[in-house]
Amino acid sequence: MCLGFGGGCATIELVEWGGLGHVSSSNGFLWGSSTSGPQTEGRLAQDGKGDNLWDYWYRIEPNRFYQGQGPDKTSTFYEHWEEDLDLLLETGHTAFRTSIQWSRIFPEGRGEINQAGVDFYRRVFEKIKEKGIHLLVNLYHFDLPMALQEQGDGWENKETAYAYQEYARFCFKTYGDLVDQWITFNEPIVPVEFGYFYDAHFPHKVDAAAAVKVAYHTQLASSLAVKACHEVDPNYRIGIVLNLTPAYPRSQHPADVKAARIAELFQAKSFLDPSVLGHYPEELVEILRERDLLPDYDPFELRLIEENTVDYLGVNYYQPLRVAAPRYAPNPASPLLFEQFYEPYVMPGRKINPHRGWEIYEQGLYDIAQNIKENYGNIEWILTENGMGVEGEEKFRKDGVIQDDYRIDFVKDHLRELHRAIQDGANCKGYLIWTFIDCWSWLNGYKNRYGLVELDLESQKRTLKNPAIGLKN
Ligand code: BG6
Repeated sequence: MCLGFGGGCATIELVEWGGLGHVSSSNGFLWGSSTSGPQTEGRLAQDGKGDNLWDYWYRIEPNRFYQGQGPDKTSTFYEHWEEDLDLLLETGHTAFRTSIQWSRIFPEGRGEINQAGVDFYRRVFEKIKEKGIHLLVNLYHFDLPMALQEQGDGWENKETAYAYQEYARFCFKTYGDLVDQWITFNEPIVPVEFGYFYDAHFPHKVDAAAAVKVAYHTQLASSLAVKACHEVDPNYRIGIVLNLTPAYPRSQHPADVKAARIAELFQAKSFLDPSVLGHYPEELVEILRERDLLPDYDPFELRLIEENTVDYLGVNYYQPLRVAAPRYAPNPASPLLFEQFYEPYVMPGRKINPHRGWEIYEQGLYDIAQNIKENYGNIEWILTENGMGVEGEEKFRKDGVIQDDYRIDFVKDHLRELHRAIQDGANCKGYLIWTFIDCWSWLNGYKNRYGLVELDLESQKRTLKNPAIGLKN
């Protein structure tokens, strides 16, 4: 299999397959993978970690999780981190992204510190740096400490943004010497959409006013963290990770085009514009104002958002967002949902990942790059997630090893588009695959496997899959 990036400083050429392994990092391009604390670490009785939303929800409604698989064990990284980190080099990483669990450091969200948790991350990050790997650390991957939900309504309460800033500041001071790039939030629109519009994540409210508050307070928290980060050290670099797929309209009919524009406002620009440009898109503000949904804000906060934009962007890309104008007028008595503005469009003849059901559209990556270049000052960015989930991956096992050539093809095809984008001026500085070792996923448990390394759930044994073995040789 022949693919990879290599070559000189400014250009990146497709050369032989080395996947993440034999690529030249001399040009500084980062190669590696992303994961998160809540999806890998697991808990031990004596580890001192507090509950987050997921720990709590799993306890009260385990039936809502795929095959009853919850966040309690995940991939036992908390116990196996040393052997896992050895695999980073074996799989050719030059960069690695994970997240700190807020509830491991501050079990109650604020106040008393769990020293065991603080020491754990210190040891892990030190080891990663010893290996010469570029470290990206995310501060929040959907995992609010439950105490803040119980005592203060979570992100509906502005105080949560300030509690988050305290936590973030603590992390910058404690680990700033080890972390190369910080991230405030991963895909902050997801908890808004799934937790407050659709009954998919805890606290599963269906309440547009609450959703808007949560989104605004999350943005405020992100800007507060950027501020704290630069106060701790002006040289520290901090960004936000967003899912930036363009919204593609079904047709050029004005109603479809409008639907796509609004979808993009909600799904991408709601965080992209304030994070990079320092202000909200006027059309989004108007839509909210007309429906009396504007959150409580004051000019001081808007100035803070304006003055504390990110240093770089992380972009997650799996599949495109295709939309059409809604077919039906909304029932005035039903709660306000995205469907009142646009509905998903399933394009006939789309290319599909049959093992996950998601569309594959590599060109989306090029379009994202062009959008960042043309509308967001060509800010530096890293592809922080891209990957192929496969259900029932054991059926591809041959001679004891998962032969995931389909994953190599998926990566290769996306890298071609990224390469084209970079040639056309995209300011992309790295590619991180989702994910390193098969990990637990929110509602899907271990159904869809994404890893370079296979995890045996019974024995917790780690086994390199096919391309990872290729990287080794
Ligand atoms: C990303 C999230 O959007 O999708 C990850 O940041 C998640 O946390 C990944 O695991 C894959 O999702 P799924 O549902 O296919 O496991």
